[in-house]
Amino acid sequence: MTEKIKTGVTGLDKMLYGGIPEKSMVLVTGGPGAGKTLLSFEFLYRNAKLGHAGVFFALEEEPDRIVENVKAAFTEITDIDDVLKSGKMQIEPENPGDAILDSESENKSTYAFGKLLASMEAKITSTGAERVVVDSVSVLDILIRNPTLYRKYMLAMITNLRRLGVTALMTIEMESPERSQLVFKPEYFIFDGIIALYQTGEESKRMLASEVLKMRGAKHSFVTTPYDITSSGFRVFAAEDIAPY
Ligand SMILES: Nc1ncnc2c1ncn2[C@@H]1O[C@H](COP(=O)(O)OP(=O)(O)OP(=O)(O)O)[C@@H](O)[C@H]1O
Ligand SMILES: [Mg+2]
Repeated sequence: MTEKIKTGVTGLDKMLYGGIPEKSMVLVTGGPGAGKTLLSFEFLYRNAKLGHAGVFFALEEEPDRIVENVKAAFTEITDIDDVLKSGKMQIEPENPGDAILDSESENKSTYAFGKLLASMEAKITSTGAERVVVDSVSVLDILIRNPTLYRKYMLAMITNLRRLGVTALMTIEMESPERSQLVFKPEYFIFDGIIALYQTGEESKRMLASEVLKMRGAKHSFVTTPYDITSSGFRVFAAEDIAPY
C-alpha cells in the first residue's frame, strides 16, 4: 500500500483520509487570495518540523515577501525563521520570466525552461528534499502563450519531479473563485490530485470552502468543506466522523 504523507494542515488530512499518497503531484487551485501560497507553505513548514526536508520554488513572488505574508497571517506560528534557518525548509527564488518570455522563439524558451528544470533538480538533490512546492505554475501559463507548449512543459516538470521521487504541491490560479465556474483544463488531467479552494459570497461575507476533486489511488472526502485562515494556520472544518484521523 502507498504510504500517505500528512499535510499537517488541521482538518485537511482528515479530508484526505490520512494525507496525500506519497510521491503524488497535487494541484492546489483557487482564485486570487484564496490561500494557495499559505496552504502550500504550511505543508512544507509542518513537514519540515516532522523532519522531512522541503523546497519551496517561488516562481511568482520574492521569498522575503512570501515569508512576510506568512508571518502576517500566521502570527501564532513563531518559529518560522528557526525552521528556515535549520535548512529543513528552503525557499528558492526562481525567475522563469525574462528567459522564457521570448515567445518569438520556441527553441529559446525550451532552453530556458530546461534550465529551470535543471536548477530545480539540482536544488532538490542537494538538499535531499522529499517535499516540494511550486508556487505558482500559472506564471508559466502567462509566459508560454502557446497552449500546447505550455502543456508539454508542465508534463516535463511533473515527469521530472516524479523521477526525483518527491511529493509535490503545485499552485495554479482558478479563473473564477466560484465552484459553479470550475473548469477542468486539459493540463489538470496529468496531476494525481487536485485540491480546490473556493470563495463565495460578498466581500464582507466571504465564505471559503475546500474540496478534494481527485486523489489517485486514495479514498478521500467528496464533501465541499469550509476552511479558515487563522493566526495559527490553515483550518479545514472537516466533519469529525469523516475519517479516523
Ligand atoms: N493577517 C491575516 N489575517 C487573516 N487572513 C489573512 C492575513 N493575511 C492574509 N490573509 C488571508 O490570506 C489570503 C492570502 O493568502 P495567499 O497569499 O496564500 O493567497 P493566494 O491564493 O496564494 O493568492 P494569489 O493568487 O494572490 O497568489 C488573503 O486573501 C486573506 O484572506
Ligand atoms: Mg499566492
